[in-house]
Amino acid sequence: MGRIDTLLASMTLEEKIGQLNMVASSRVITGPGELRDLEDGIRGGRIGSLLNLWGLEETRAVQRLAVEESRLGVPLLMGLDVIHGHRTIFPVCLAEACLFAPDLWEKTARAAAEEATEDGVALTFAPMLDVARDPRWGRIIESPGEDPWVACQMAAAKTRGFQGQDLAAQDSIAATAKHLCAYGAVTAGREYASADVSERTLRELYLPPFAAAVHARVAAIMPAFIDVAGVAMTVNGNLMQGWLRGAAGFDGVVISDYNAVAELLHHGVASDLVEAAALALNAGVDIDMTSNAYVQGLAEALKRGLTTIAAIDASVRRVLALKERLGLFDDPYRRGSASAPAGRAAERQTLAREAARRAIVLLSNRGQALPLSPEIRRIAVIGPLADARGEMLGSWASAGRPEDAVSILEGLRSALPNCRIDHVPGVDIAGESTDGMPAALGLCAEAEVVVLCLGEAAAMSGEAASRVDLGLPGRQRALAEAVLDLGKPVVVTLSSGRPLTLPWLFERADAVLATWFLGHEAGHAVADVVTGAFNPTGRLPVSWPRHVGQIPIFYNELPAGRPYAPGVHYTSTYLDSPPTPQFPFGHGLSYSRFALSDLSCEPARLKPGDSIDVSAAVHNEAGVDGEATLFLFVRDPVASVARPLLELKGIQKAVLKAGERKTVTWRLPVEELAFVGQGLEPILEPGRVEIHVGQSADPEGFVSGAVELVL
Ligand code: BGC
Repeated sequence: MGRIDTLLASMTLEEKIGQLNMVASSRVITGPGELRDLEDGIRGGRIGSLLNLWGLEETRAVQRLAVEESRLGVPLLMGLDVIHGHRTIFPVCLAEACLFAPDLWEKTARAAAEEATEDGVALTFAPMLDVARDPRWGRIIESPGEDPWVACQMAAAKTRGFQGQDLAAQDSIAATAKHLCAYGAVTAGREYASADVSERTLRELYLPPFAAAVHARVAAIMPAFIDVAGVAMTVNGNLMQGWLRGAAGFDGVVISDYNAVAELLHHGVASDLVEAAALALNAGVDIDMTSNAYVQGLAEALKRGLTTIAAIDASVRRVLALKERLGLFDDPYRRGSASAPAGRAAERQTLAREAARRAIVLLSNRGQALPLSPEIRRIAVIGPLADARGEMLGSWASAGRPEDAVSILEGLRSALPNCRIDHVPGVDIAGESTDGMPAALGLCAEAEVVVLCLGEAAAMSGEAASRVDLGLPGRQRALAEAVLDLGKPVVVTLSSGRPLTLPWLFERADAVLATWFLGHEAGHAVADVVTGAFNPTGRLPVSWPRHVGQIPIFYNELPAGRPYAPGVHYTSTYLDSPPTPQFPFGHGLSYSRFALSDLSCEPARLKPGDSIDVSAAVHNEAGVDGEATLFLFVRDPVASVARPLLELKGIQKAVLKAGERKTVTWRLPVEELAFVGQGLEPILEPGRVEIHVGQSADPEGFVSGAVELVL
């Protein structure tokens, strides 16, 4: 018998259920009772994993209880939300998506895994792979954006980064792909609300990133809190047993979301914890995160015949298999036992700065206001996000400390030592007071340039942070308009976890940078871009709406029977706004200027098994070296079901010296043109397929061709 069989055979029912029970352990023990309960639970084998505990001493102390003082000595699994960094904080996920660079996505996850394991952590609840088309939803900040292809690349890169080559390695952590699925489609963007999406949309948009994570051998999956079309994801057996463990071939552990099993009562699908526990377990949820429903309900569920011991055993087996895969049985203390190689902190800081500056999107730059002229000697840095270290960390800070962050003000001061830089916030992020405005305007009047740092507080996006108004909170608009009225050059930085609808600002400001929440190196990264030390390369992973009324908004929509034509009444638009976004998916300016030409796609006729070779020329027409990002889109103009106006199938970056010209290439397997047919199965259809290469999803500037698929 193998280790797992032997263990399983010697476990009591209570110990088995214990393996399925994940308990939150506040690092700060809030009362003696809590600590004792936790310790007794671990000793008694009633707790199999912990959440929210980190630190070498802290994790070892509880691991010792499990390994040395529980009857069977099964090690604990220690989980934490290591989302965009652990000690070193990288840009929030939506900002990181702007990099369009899987190698860097992988590197930041690797660095986070190394740091987290030094703190005894073995499991993270990341990557989040919820495709998000609705910026009202606060968790868009944690998402890879609106595109499923990007989300798939993110899934693979992050899983590789967290898990490394070998999950048993000292510096590897198990990744959890979450939240299965369609959480981004909650009604009206309202957190925790129901979603109702078609089977086709599930298969084409929301499930592929999870399939990509499974393909990369992700260790765990977390179902979403929500219901989709009336079926709570926590009890969706068709999805978890059928699709995930069946079609997608997942053999890892399913971990419920926080308290989600108990919340089945609120969903109205279970009348008590006993039913809730049985429903979740039968649907394939192995670990109950914090709701205590398995502990309270599973034994009784067995008695009532609502579940079987075989189902419990299967889940326990999967949990033990993950612990084995992590090497926990061989050495439960291996994480954190090697001392970190010297120089790592500096390396991670460099990586954090690189990721942060690449995440910045130059949204507008009228009259080349940026980069700032080196002649400038006096700058007023105004606004509530200018000197806000803590906010730079974003929605998940893990063990990251606000005092290690560089504010925008600090970054600018350190980059421009010969420049006088004065700062007054003017207003608070969300307060109603305008008392600070006169002082701020006074500084602006004396400056050559104003850097106006506006946006949201970090807590205004993330979980439980949906908003109906995507304007600037508090009195920031009043401040901005007063500053703009002075007629000075104004450069705006927007710190936010989502696109903000500010058409008036884009209309008037000289330059606007989306600076999201960039993590510890935020200030240096912003200064790199503002001074021109770094030529911006960030691109939008979401369409940026003009108005909340346009939401949900995304580039890969289906064609309308009456497509939008400006000025034509009976077409798909609004009376009071064009339907187009403020900035399209993929938008992002550079200090260089790139032109595309000479698209070629070969061969002209293809059959299954073939690949399309696409190439395009890109020319840097400016006098500054830069990096172009090129997007490869396809469109199937006539098919048995309507196909999106555009679908992303690849990206390429080209680093070009001033005046340089290069050819970029893609090889696209024909199978990538398959889509979900009327029978909900993937199909390939004969016919013409358009190929477009562009610098964003805006068809203006595309170079285009076509191939013919022959079956
Ligand atoms: C969130 C998850 C997270 C979990 C554990 C939940 O509230 O939805 O994304 O991993 O808490 O902190």
